[in-house]
Amino acid sequence: MNAIGLGIDTTFDDTSIAILRGKNEILANLTLSQYKDHEEFGGVVPERASRKHMEVIHPLIEEALKKANVDFKDLSYITVSNYPGLLGSLLVGVTVAKTLSYALKIPLIGVNHVEAHPYANFLVYDQVNYPIMHLVVAGGHTLLFHAKDHFNYKIIGRSVDDAAGECVDKVAKMFGYPMPGGPVVDRYAVSTPSDKYDFPRPVLNSGDYNFSFSGLKTAMLRFREKNPELLSDEKAILSSFFQSIVDVLIFKAFKALKEFELTNLSVSGGLAASKKLRQSFEKEAKERGITLFYPPPYLCTDNAAMVTCLGSHKFEAGKFDDLNLEAYPNIYDV
Ligand code: KG4
Ligand code: ZN
Repeated sequence: MNAIGLGIDTTFDDTSIAILRGKNEILANLTLSQYKDHEEFGGVVPERASRKHMEVIHPLIEEALKKANVDFKDLSYITVSNYPGLLGSLLVGVTVAKTLSYALKIPLIGVNHVEAHPYANFLVYDQVNYPIMHLVVAGGHTLLFHAKDHFNYKIIGRSVDDAAGECVDKVAKMFGYPMPGGPVVDRYAVSTPSDKYDFPRPVLNSGDYNFSFSGLKTAMLRFREKNPELLSDEKAILSSFFQSIVDVLIFKAFKALKEFELTNLSVSGGLAASKKLRQSFEKEAKERGITLFYPPPYLCTDNAAMVTCLGSHKFEAGKFDDLNLEAYPNIYDV
């Protein structure tokens, strides 16, 4: 299949456009980050995010077409993340996608942004084996799903409060680092590996596969308040904190592999760009004889290429949407 698809991702604060030939040939994958636009507010301002998407999305589509050396008439389908995310941001992408689909008379395909993350792996590996356990460690969601095939899967675990990425960002902010804090915490975790401080490993023994990181965030806040004299040891503190997160993710993912008798694991999502996380999963997978699929860092963080890759599989399977496609902020509303 050599269909060419255009994919749009405007779920949160990045505007991303990709053009994909077939299922894995990335002709363009352009992302504009808004993080500087929100810096002075200490977090993403939803209305500002939608406005920014509106400003940049059309020029970005033009640029992607130029980079891919294709024209609108060469496109076979339009795909867009229609959930989860900020409603105003999602609506910009969904509206542009509907307009293009209507004007070009080509199929419209909505995808779940979080479930698109594992498709970063399908872009770089010749073959991703099924059945597989997908661990997604994105900023807003931590998800574990057991997939027998592309469209035959079951979510077996999810974050019930703060996701791992969200927890890392909030704790980094607590220590005075700007958003997103993941990269700096990861740098410390690699440069100063430490488990000197024994922070909680939340719901490690809860008996299910759900994740909960808000208790760890609160523990970090209390620790910081109670031990101001230790703050000069910040690198070891943040490194030990990250070790707690890594331990929980590894424990739950490998426990699930064992219970479901699987030998394939994929890890994806923004937090997967962490060097520490990658090293830890690689080591564990090797020791346990698990085949690990792990994308390069530029495909871990939000990008439209992974969205278009999932879209290409839906296109092949004839799973199209119509112009009634809606945007949903919540992942479980659909
Ligand atoms: O998947 P993503 O780009 O956005 C969502 O879908 O939510 O994930 C963003 C998360 C943030 O928590 C950010 O701090 C983290 O990914 N992140 C990293 C790195 N790059 C991004 N964490 C650790 N190391 C990195 N290099
Ligand atoms: Zn994401």
